[in-house]
Amino acid sequence: MAANGGHALIDVQSISKFFGSVIALKEISMICYPGEVMCLLGDNGAGKSTLIKTLSGVHKQDEGRILIDGEEVNFESPREALDKGIATVYQDLAMVPLMSVTRNFFMGREPAEGKGLLQRIKMSMANTTAHDEMKKIGIDVRDPSQAVGTLSGGERQCLAIARAVYFGAKVLILDEPTSALGVKQAGVVLRYVAQAKARGLGVIFITHNVHHAYPVADRFTMLNRGRSLGTFEKKDISREEVLGMMAGGKDLDQLTSELEEFQRADTGRKGGGVSQLEPGAAAEAAVQSSQT
Ligand SMILES: Nc1ncnc2c1ncn2[C@@H]1O[C@H](COP(=O)(O)OP(=O)(O)OP(=O)(O)O)[C@@H](O)[C@H]1O
Ligand SMILES: [Mg+2]
Repeated sequence: MAANGGHALIDVQSISKFFGSVIALKEISMICYPGEVMCLLGDNGAGKSTLIKTLSGVHKQDEGRILIDGEEVNFESPREALDKGIATVYQDLAMVPLMSVTRNFFMGREPAEGKGLLQRIKMSMANTTAHDEMKKIGIDVRDPSQAVGTLSGGERQCLAIARAVYFGAKVLILDEPTSALGVKQAGVVLRYVAQAKARGLGVIFITHNVHHAYPVADRFTMLNRGRSLGTFEKKDISREEVLGMMAGGKDLDQLTSELEEFQRADTGRKGGGVSQLEPGAAAEAAVQSSQT
């Protein structure tokens, strides 16, 4: 039970998923409460996407249980997950660039009037709604009939999130929403994640960028090659510890000493004095730049 006394929105109990001989997930447990951001961290191939695809009805787990609001579920399709309030925003957003902001916002669920052949979309009402919902999150789309392709990556990501929230999502799953974005655009998305949390949604935020995850997260579940390294409350773990765990402590130490070696060779070549690298900072800078 959460600190606020609420029940878990999603309770993943020891699920495993195999693709032939590949163990994509092995006995993973994870929990997400209303009004919190649960960060799922891990390197490439760790199993993050596989885990959320299992939660959103794309894959079926081979072992373990998934409980939504305390009730066991076995989704047959993404539609069923959506009906239970689990909305997933994939990195390759399901949007039609040439269609308008409004049409992408509603995607077949536009408000309509009339019946049969006489049915018409209430376009001006749809435009106003799309405009207002985007405005609420601080994005002023001057003309909602403009093509989505004219929005920036961050704005498109926010549109997908706004759509999910508007249509009643309880759990918002975001797969690497900031990975292709610059600092400013990533900030827009992160601010919106914080807003969704304040509205009481549960957010599962997937990333391999600790610097994006740390400011918004309440808890971290760390995956490594399909296995869980554990779940940590933010108050119990520093940003550096999260980073170290993701890079793998030993790998990070090795990287640090390799970088020091390069630095020494470089300063030797230039004939300058040896300036000592700050070990942690060097490794962090290298990991950070390899991730952006
Ligand atoms: N449909 C599939 N068929 C076979 N193997 C798969 C399939 N989907 C994922 N895998 C394998 O499962 C493992 C986990 O992949 P997954 O995409 O979940 O990783 P990830 O943590 O999302 O990585 P990334 O950060 O690169 O997106 C990988 O070894 C991958 O090759
Ligand atoms: Mg992935």
